[in-house]
Amino acid sequence: MSKSISGFSKLSKSKKIDWIVNTYFSNKEEAKNILKQYWNSNDNIQQLHDEFIENTISNFYLPLGVAPNFLINDTLYTIPMAIEESSVVAAASKAAKFWLDRGGFKAEVISTTKIGQVHFLYKGNFETLKLFFESVKSKLIFEARHITKNMDKRGGGIVSIELKDKTEDITGYYQLHATFETQDAMGANFINSCLEQFANTFKMEAERFETFTESEKNIEIVMSILSNYVPDCLVRAEVSCNVNELNEDPDISPKEFADKFIQAIKIAEVEPYRAVTHNKGIMNGVDAVVLATGNDFRAVEAGVHAYASRKGKYSSLTHATVDDGIFKFWIEIPLALGTVGGLTGLHPLVKLSLELLYKPSAKELMKIVAVAGLAQNFGAIRSLITTGIQQGHMKMHLMNILNQFEASSNEKDTLIAHFKTHVVTHSAVVEAIENLRR
Ligand code: MEV
Repeated sequence: MSKSISGFSKLSKSKKIDWIVNTYFSNKEEAKNILKQYWNSNDNIQQLHDEFIENTISNFYLPLGVAPNFLINDTLYTIPMAIEESSVVAAASKAAKFWLDRGGFKAEVISTTKIGQVHFLYKGNFETLKLFFESVKSKLIFEARHITKNMDKRGGGIVSIELKDKTEDITGYYQLHATFETQDAMGANFINSCLEQFANTFKMEAERFETFTESEKNIEIVMSILSNYVPDCLVRAEVSCNVNELNEDPDISPKEFADKFIQAIKIAEVEPYRAVTHNKGIMNGVDAVVLATGNDFRAVEAGVHAYASRKGKYSSLTHATVDDGIFKFWIEIPLALGTVGGLTGLHPLVKLSLELLYKPSAKELMKIVAVAGLAQNFGAIRSLITTGIQQGHMKMHLMNILNQFEASSNEKDTLIAHFKTHVVTHSAVVEAIENLRR
């Protein structure tokens, strides 16, 4: 049977579902019911979600959890997290509580600019191109003023435009490399609109530039697009305490804890295989808050991992030291986030999440997200160097296994009590369920 279809996007939602279930599912009614089960009972909310993307057939739920007790720069936050991994919110909450009793987190935004580029080909004399660029630079900015005027009023806009010679990499390849400040907006649409306008002006003006030869006048624009590499949109978060205060884990002394912790971080700094997993744990916290606040986690992921390899080798995003008996643990991370525009004013749960965070500016949100990443990493390293990761992870995963076996409420209560004093493994849970049902 052919599974291609033309004009799919023009079908009504119910016709789309009919086509999907008739084409792909043996139990058509069941497939249809599952899709419909996840529709929102409020038509307006459902329509809003239908219109976020093309070809919406249902909604895809993720749990929205909260991690309370985050003291950040002396303000207490309860942080919203959208994530499916069972132990992440528990680990964040535990780390928050640990540092609440030790002065909390300190965070600062280091820089906030973002980059966009017009990539073009030019076959001619570079000195003449430089001359042309200098003559047209102010016009590039002037002709983008219909795009920039509101952003200018908010204190943002175009910071600079440079001409870059990239001919060592590709023959004839140059860039307009522009720097932007986008205030509380993530700024992707703003930056891309500016770049496309720069490209138009640049090409048109080149055709009129008399110093160019006829062939030099023919600048070929390849593409205009923002960069998700944002090393100058950087935030730092930190915790510190006296080594003696690292005293909550019964089987390890504070000094031993600090030494082992620092060793674990050093390994992630030098060993890429470990660094990737180490940073993945950080992104558990980062992505969950980025998603809950309606931001683009793919952009954040791409930028963060590029930053982690900026020195030519993939490395840890966090670092730790002990100096004069003071344990210090910090993260520096690039985060292009927005608290206006995009989903932030549209998705009801995103609006709620932002209100929970006292309606933060983009800079405040950068700090909160960096702290969530640092806390997550603290929780992971703490477990790894003490009990091992599986104890806490499997404890949280227990409910998933019980649900897989469709355990009743009574069965759940009994087994949760049982596993308070027994090690949770998949086979141990299966055995316990079987024993209980025998
Ligand atoms: C699991 O999602 C994340 C960890 O593997 C992170 C780490 O190893 O640091 C626990």
